[in-house]
Amino acid sequence: MIKVLFICLGNICRSPMAEAIFRDLVEKDKLSDKLMVDSAGIGHWHSGEPPHAGTRTMLDKLDISYKDMKARQVHTNDWQDFDYIIAMDDQNISDLREINDGTSGVKIAKLMDFVEDPDDVNVPDPYFTGNFDYTYELVSKGCKELLAYIKKVENI
Ligand code: 4NP
Repeated sequence: MIKVLFICLGNICRSPMAEAIFRDLVEKDKLSDKLMVDSAGIGHWHSGEPPHAGTRTMLDKLDISYKDMKARQVHTNDWQDFDYIIAMDDQNISDLREINDGTSGVKIAKLMDFVEDPDDVNVPDPYFTGNFDYTYELVSKGCKELLAYIKKVENI
């Protein structure tokens, strides 16, 4: 099983959006028995909460499920448990590098690293911008390209 963990700051806006969209792509590709997906936040403030209303509205419009999704904080165990840790912005990456002890072979990257010539190299935080549409555009494109990349390198 290949395991993918999406990371953002609060785990209520961007990374749950990515988790739900990526899982939907994986299901449509009939790869659910090969790829597992989760998300977590750098911060603990929203632990136990469902995705933000803006993310839920977007996922409802797309008819993509976020059932049973609850925010949680990233944990050092995640370095052992996951194969890919995919962050939303540079700040997430530097926060992750601070808490990673470097003992695992997990691949850490930003979602937009998988997109050629992206409109933004970081996924803007709609918790602060209020623009869930633009965040969705980037997350959606990023998830498609990430899945294509994983399928290629993992030969699935
Ligand atoms: P996210 O957005 O990282 O996309 O989930 C945020 C949500 C909450 C906070 C920050 C960012 N917060 O500071 O509470």
